[in-house]
Amino acid sequence: MDRRLALVTGASAGIGAAFARIFAIHGYDVALTARRAERLESLADEIRMQFGVETLTVSADLARPGAVDEVLAHLAGHGRVVDALVNNAGYGLPGRFVDTAWADQQAFLQVMVTAPCELAHKLLPGMAERRFGRIVNVASLAGLVPGAAGHTLYAASKALLVRFSQSLHLEAGADGVHVTALCPGFTYSEFHDVNRTRAQVSSATPPWLWLEADEVAAAGYEAVEANRAVCVPGAPNKAIAAVAKLIPDDWALALMASQGKRFRKV
Ligand SMILES: NC(=O)c1ccc[n+]([C@@H]2O[C@H](COP(=O)([O-])OP(=O)(O)OC[C@H]3O[C@@H](n4cnc5c(N)ncnc54)[C@H](OP(=O)(O)O)[C@@H]3O)[C@@H](O)[C@H]2O)c1
Repeated sequence: MDRRLALVTGASAGIGAAFARIFAIHGYDVALTARRAERLESLADEIRMQFGVETLTVSADLARPGAVDEVLAHLAGHGRVVDALVNNAGYGLPGRFVDTAWADQQAFLQVMVTAPCELAHKLLPGMAERRFGRIVNVASLAGLVPGAAGHTLYAASKALLVRFSQSLHLEAGADGVHVTALCPGFTYSEFHDVNRTRAQVSSATPPWLWLEADEVAAAGYEAVEANRAVCVPGAPNKAIAAVAKLIPDDWALALMASQGKRFRKV
């Protein structure tokens, strides 16, 4: 098998589907995973036809411990190793922490934190041995600014992905493995439909704050190729990240207190 393989989680929609197309455009075979098998199959057909690369699909719920091993076993069963990993699957859990069920928070941490770390941990040794690897952890601008009320663990989980990516970037670079945290702001996808904030967020944000999923994925691909530890796509998002770093923490938190409720469901 000549071509490298990119594994994309959350490939059935939005930024993940866009990443699958970008890696295929750059000559990678792609392995697509998410829960909705039909979506994966139709994207795989489209990518095979359009870009002439091989595709693999594996339906898995990353909230289930053991799902990562099943995905990797499926790829190994096809005799494939993973050269690029895009940890992209994710969602928001609306509401105040205290009003949510622990089972839902536990599943959230499994998808947003444990599964991406487990995938990186299990794939890194092979990448290092072959002296080539690409890991993109899709974090968020929310991981670079203070937390807001509601969706309580979202910012925390994304901040963890940013710090994790930075450390891994420093550890793995010498082995030829590039690691990048991609920190998008508002992006057109199914994200705000799934967490039922579409109407609220649309009315609270100007169109210039939004990027298309393929712009975000293209920025992420370019950043991981260039081996940049953190990538914030889009000028407005870069400005927000810069301001959050410059102003005192308590000012930034006060800003989140007033602005956060405009686009978070509490
Ligand atoms: N859209 C934004 O404004 C925005 C901004 C910053 C960061 N992000 C981040 O970008 C990433 C992609 O989100 P998106 O905007 O593309 O949203 P999306 O269109 O809703 O796509 C989310 C993807 O994650 C998958 N997924 C969700 N739960 C899963 C589970 N339990 N097991 C396996 N796969 C699961 C979904 O597939 P199935 O439902 O088929 O399982 C889907 O493919 C997320 O990590 C999100 O936090 C998004």
